[in-house]
Amino acid sequence: MEIKVLIDEIEELVTPEGKGPLSKEDQGRVKIINNAAILIDENGTIVDFGKRERILSNYRITPSTYVLSAKGKTAIPGLVDPHTHLVYTGCRHWELKERLQGKGYIEILKRGGGILSTVEETRKSDEDELFALASKRLDIMLSYGTTSVEIKSGYGLSLKHERKILNVINRLKKERGQIISSTFLGAHAVPPEYRESPADYIDLIINSMLPEFKGLADFADVFLEEGAFSYSEAERILKRARELGYGIKIHADEITDSKGACLAASLSAQSADHLLYASDDCLKQMKQAGTIAVLLPSTAYFLKKTFANARKMIDMGIPVAIATDHNPGTSPLYSQLLNMSFAVFFMNMQPEEALIAATLNAACAMGKGEITGSIEKGKRADIVLLNAHSYMHIFYETGHNIVDTVILGGKVVLKKD
Ligand code: NIG
Ligand code: FE
Repeated sequence: MEIKVLIDEIEELVTPEGKGPLSKEDQGRVKIINNAAILIDENGTIVDFGKRERILSNYRITPSTYVLSAKGKTAIPGLVDPHTHLVYTGCRHWELKERLQGKGYIEILKRGGGILSTVEETRKSDEDELFALASKRLDIMLSYGTTSVEIKSGYGLSLKHERKILNVINRLKKERGQIISSTFLGAHAVPPEYRESPADYIDLIINSMLPEFKGLADFADVFLEEGAFSYSEAERILKRARELGYGIKIHADEITDSKGACLAASLSAQSADHLLYASDDCLKQMKQAGTIAVLLPSTAYFLKKTFANARKMIDMGIPVAIATDHNPGTSPLYSQLLNMSFAVFFMNMQPEEALIAATLNAACAMGKGEITGSIEKGKRADIVLLNAHSYMHIFYETGHNIVDTVILGGKVVLKKD
């Protein structure tokens, strides 16, 4: 085996350890190694890592090895963003203005604004245009250290346009270095042409979209909410999705307690996302089912809501991940770095819990926990070097992008210094 890259003289290496998702005390425990080194082979896989002296004495470093000095820097696993709506056209800054003046999110949606205005814009774009827009957004995320991203459809809401968006996500999977998982969210809103007969749209999802998109999407998701889809509609859609072999995700209890967390548990969903208003009873069921809580601090921030109770969930033993929810309406955020700060300052999470929430637990929520999310022998070398002496600077320098270098599958794809 050939050593292709040596990341040398790392001042502080920080990583989650073990098989995720991590919960309870394990979510608060990271491995910290000072003066460390990491070795990567020609396949972009981590060969070994640890104290620099041990690594340098145990392996033969040849002149063909690329040596990357990380003097004065901190190495963490590439960040993982397990809930985004990245494929869309246009923006909705005017809606933010309305919300800051006191209009409700669902009120705007019911008027045909919100999600539906993005649907109108997105339907006008072809695959190439959407690919270029989403690619640009992935570049911005990369500059903040995000190396894996889950992407949902949901701004097409017809066979033709949902397929177009899923095709774009699959092209991103092939052509981008980032790890991407795809989620079908046809049940994001009822499209205008079905306003008078929403039941027919649900039939379209169940009888045509889900079977036709099998193979194009890893997961199926539903926006279970007053003004979107009801519990029983979500249950019908997701049961069919499960029969067809999709993994399950739910936008659960974001604006009201709609028992989304209970439904997620009863379907053994991979994740239940948002959970601002989830009841204790449903959270208990999620813990039993092993469903991951994907919390979206920036969405609560932009909607000026009380943040999800991460502290309670972690203490109950639910593995918690965080995501940006990047979308043009409720959360135009790109940075998981800033989101980790939100988690610490507004959700009562400890720094180590936030780091695990944005790496290993997030990778597990995407179904990619075996290949990324931690610095571990045999995993893909998705590594971020921070221009900082300690990971504590993620929180200490909130709002400043301290990402210095991004390594994707063993390749240096961004380097500032
Ligand atoms: O997760 N809540 C539903 N979906 C997104 C918002 C999408 C939009 O407003 O365009 C969310 O918050
Ligand atoms: Fe969302």
